[in-house]
Amino acid sequence: MATNITFHPGSVTRDERTNFLGHPGMTIWLTGLSASGKSTIACALEQYLLQNGITSYRLDGDNVRFGLNSDLGFSEKDRNENIRRIGHVAKLFADASVVSITSFISPYCKDRDQAREAHEKDGLPFIEVLVDCPVEVAERRDPKGLYKRARAGEIKEFTGISAPYEAPVAPEVVVSSGTMSTEQSVEKIVAYLQEKNLVH
Ligand code: PPS
Repeated sequence: MATNITFHPGSVTRDERTNFLGHPGMTIWLTGLSASGKSTIACALEQYLLQNGITSYRLDGDNVRFGLNSDLGFSEKDRNENIRRIGHVAKLFADASVVSITSFISPYCKDRDQAREAHEKDGLPFIEVLVDCPVEVAERRDPKGLYKRARAGEIKEFTGISAPYEAPVAPEVVVSSGTMSTEQSVEKIVAYLQEKNLVH
């Protein structure tokens, strides 16, 4: 970290911002294999929240890698950095009273825990959602043909095939894209948010 830097607090408090904008910010962190359904659920959740007057914004794996993280690949070190940056970006959105919905494979527990810690240290809710999907199901879907290419050895370090996926031990919510519809997954996440009084 650079030296000689000073954090500059703003003049609007978290409570004031929440009151102005009508709801608190938070991060809903979806994690799961490629083709597990993260992006589909994130899109539907974003739409549901916006339609219900809650400002939400989606940060998505592929999309963020086109810009902010275009310098990163898929080695363990690059994935650590990918998630570290996203954790901080999501936290900035949450601090701005936005519900940020992230959909990254985020295969390492340690990286997700660091993102959680950064939020919770600052009093911002972090809701981890496991999009549970057996690798066989994801591989059968293979919408981008990536599993096929990974099996053929054309893509190295492919999650679930030649790179690890560490499922969360105690996620706040588990949805299963193999047995639940997208609507059911959204309902389950929203029910959790309502139960915790995070949305009304
Ligand atoms: S990570 O592990 O969290 O840093 O990955 P993420 O930023 O979510 O990017 C995942 C998307 O990148 C594509 N892709 C790969 N995924 C896994 N392993 C390898 N080697 C790989 N190479 C490219 C793939 O389209 C992922 O998108 P999703 O939406 O998850 O299928």
